[in-house]
Amino acid sequence: MKGAFILLNLLMFSLTFPNNFIHTQSSNYTTYTPIARLLKVPESEVPTLLAQEKTLIKGNNSAILAKEDKATNALLSINYKLNNIAIYLRHVDDVQNKEFIADAEKLNPIIIYNEPEIPEIHNKSLEFPPIEEVVFCGDGVRTSNWQTICAVGLWVRSILNSTYYIMTAGHCYDNGPYNPDGSVDFYHFPWMGSVVNDVAPGFIGPMTQPNLSVVDKAFILKQNDNIRVTASVRNTDDQNYPELMIYGSAVIDTVGAIVCKSGYFSHVQCGRILEIGAQFNFLKDGEVVEYSGLTKVERIAFQGDSGGPVYGYELSLLPGIIIAGILSSGNLAIINDWNVFTPIDMLITSDIEIITVGNL
Ligand SMILES: *[C@@H]1O[C@H](CO)[C@@H](O)[C@H](O)[C@H]1NC(C)=O
Ligand SMILES: *[C@@H]1O[C@H](CO)[C@@H](O)[C@H](O)[C@H]1NC(C)=O
Ligand SMILES: *[C@@H]1O[C@H](CO)[C@@H](O)[C@H](O)[C@H]1NC(C)=O
Ligand SMILES: *[C@@H]1O[C@H](CO)[C@@H](O)[C@H](O)[C@H]1NC(C)=O
Ligand SMILES: *[C@@H]1O[C@H](CO)[C@@H](O)[C@H](O)[C@H]1NC(C)=O
Repeated sequence: MKGAFILLNLLMFSLTFPNNFIHTQSSNYTTYTPIARLLKVPESEVPTLLAQEKTLIKGNNSAILAKEDKATNALLSINYKLNNIAIYLRHVDDVQNKEFIADAEKLNPIIIYNEPEIPEIHNKSLEFPPIEEVVFCGDGVRTSNWQTICAVGLWVRSILNSTYYIMTAGHCYDNGPYNPDGSVDFYHFPWMGSVVNDVAPGFIGPMTQPNLSVVDKAFILKQNDNIRVTASVRNTDDQNYPELMIYGSAVIDTVGAIVCKSGYFSHVQCGRILEIGAQFNFLKDGEVVEYSGLTKVERIAFQGDSGGPVYGYELSLLPGIIIAGILSSGNLAIINDWNVFTPIDMLITSDIEIITVGNL
């Protein structure tokens, strides 16, 4: 399994090369890898930089501090350009984070403040034939009280009993309304903006309470027979490739590589990977929740895109794509600098498989 991830990752890496990154105008030009190009350093320095990153994460205990000091809405990562620990905060959390900031400052990190912003609503509805019943990855899902809109991440199947589930972000569970057994019902909410009734076929099924302590993921059980499973990601703003086919999945952890996400609010957006191994801390019911191992990207998401699939962009593979993870921003999806996704290897367990074009 791990071997396959690495292999595919190398494949993605080499596929990414010719189109986007390689610089070989003459023999005197350094052949840049994406990270080398991003940092404007020779390729030979990349291993050292990656090693430095690991040392910085391990050596400097800002992550531990964040937990001890009950930091909330703090995103910690390594900023490659500045070669230092970056801590992303908001002034609205300053009171709660006072202790953490004081302690963290001793480690000389770069502290970057972001403020929440209200997303601009774009009407991206297209005159596209509605594809009823089929729930695409990237489509919206909503609760019956409309308090939550998230995006379908991936369809997955239990290896034991072939039950189908939608994987999405775990924090989509938070606003209820809760069924007597503690689950939350979810309904299909396609991009068309059409209002789907609270009755079948819009009803998908319940999300059982996720364990949010480790990773931001949850599963919606497919309980309605009229809902169709797909191995496709919605990209209907693009007439050439309205459906992207999931060929497989791989960890994409190359800084500078381009990834895209599909989601209810901002549809398909692409950006570069900025930082890996980022950690997000927040307080939930007075307890510290910590998500680590996240990948930070340029802005590709807004509120309502949470849980949407993130995939590697490679022109020659289209309409095929390789899934890299699902979108999470802890509990804040509206901050410019806080676009992070959970890598696929943290999401898939041995008892489930991702639905791909090969096993649909
Ligand atoms: C290669 O380019 C560098 C920087 O422009 C220059 O200093 C060097 O002389 C060049 N080497 C050759 C062999 O042309
Ligand atoms: C922690 O980071 C600082 C830069 O912020 C660096 O100077 C220091 O060497 C690091 N400490 C360790 C133990 O890596
Ligand atoms: C969005 O655009 C579609 C297609 O042009 C149109 O039918 C619809 O009324 C628009 N919705 C809003 C809220 O403006
Ligand atoms: C199917 O298997 C999953 C684990 O993969 C389990 O959680 C679920 O309860 C099982 N469902 C049925 C109907 O046995
Ligand atoms: C959630 O997962 C953590 C880590 O695996 C575990 O320690 C904890 O007991 C779990 N909580 C629940 C309620 O299952």
